[in-house]
Amino acid sequence: MIIPSQELCIIPLEEGHNLSTFTSSNEDLNDFLHNDALKSQENLISRTYLCIWKSRLAGFFTLVTDTIEVKLIEQEDGIDDYNYQKYPAIKIARMAVDEKLSGAGVGRYLLLAAVGKVHHLSLEVGCRYITVDSKREAVGFYEKNGFKIIKKYENRNFPPMYLNMYPIIQRIE
Ligand SMILES: CC(C)(COP(=O)(O)OP(=O)(O)OC[C@H]1O[C@@H](n2cnc3c(N)ncnc32)[C@H](O)[C@@H]1OP(=O)(O)O)[C@@H](O)C(=O)NCCC(=O)NCCS
Repeated sequence: MIIPSQELCIIPLEEGHNLSTFTSSNEDLNDFLHNDALKSQENLISRTYLCIWKSRLAGFFTLVTDTIEVKLIEQEDGIDDYNYQKYPAIKIARMAVDEKLSGAGVGRYLLLAAVGKVHHLSLEVGCRYITVDSKREAVGFYEKNGFKIIKKYENRNFPPMYLNMYPIIQRIE
């Protein structure tokens, strides 16, 4: 079953949301959402967004600011004559889908929502890439959705990946 995107919506995490029903296949991510996401948000470390389907929590993602080293980006994704060592980026620090809804398109919807948020941000502040330190088993998911793995670190437990927002924003505009 693929859930139509009109049935999904994104809301910012707030105190009082019932998070306890959420169970993804990854215990660390469940623990983060249940115990740390709100605290982290209150401390201005991260912002978490919940994805709701039929009044139930279907997934979430968490964003933080980031930078990415110029030398790690493939040449076609970089800027000629850029005079700094790092590019500005936004990182998907956490992302997960409830395991009962796995394979229903919620993950892709979360990524599109994150792209939308970063596009919006890019109108106010420079941010050219979305970064993620992927779970090894999720690398294929991100690749399918346009992310590139950073070759130098592809053997890490959590391979770093990036999405170049520049062509995406050109298409949107
Ligand atoms: C990875 C995850 C977010 C994917 O969410 P999902 O809702 O199951 O994915 P979708 O249904 O939106 O899948 C979108 C596409 O990606 C593919 N895909 C999904 N998970 C994949 C994976 N682990 N590897 C490769 N491809 C994958 C799907 O087959 C689909 O492709 P298609 O349109 O060609 O059929 C989800 O499985 C999850 O929460 N996993 C546990 C936590 C995790 O690993 N999070 C990532 C943290 S960095």
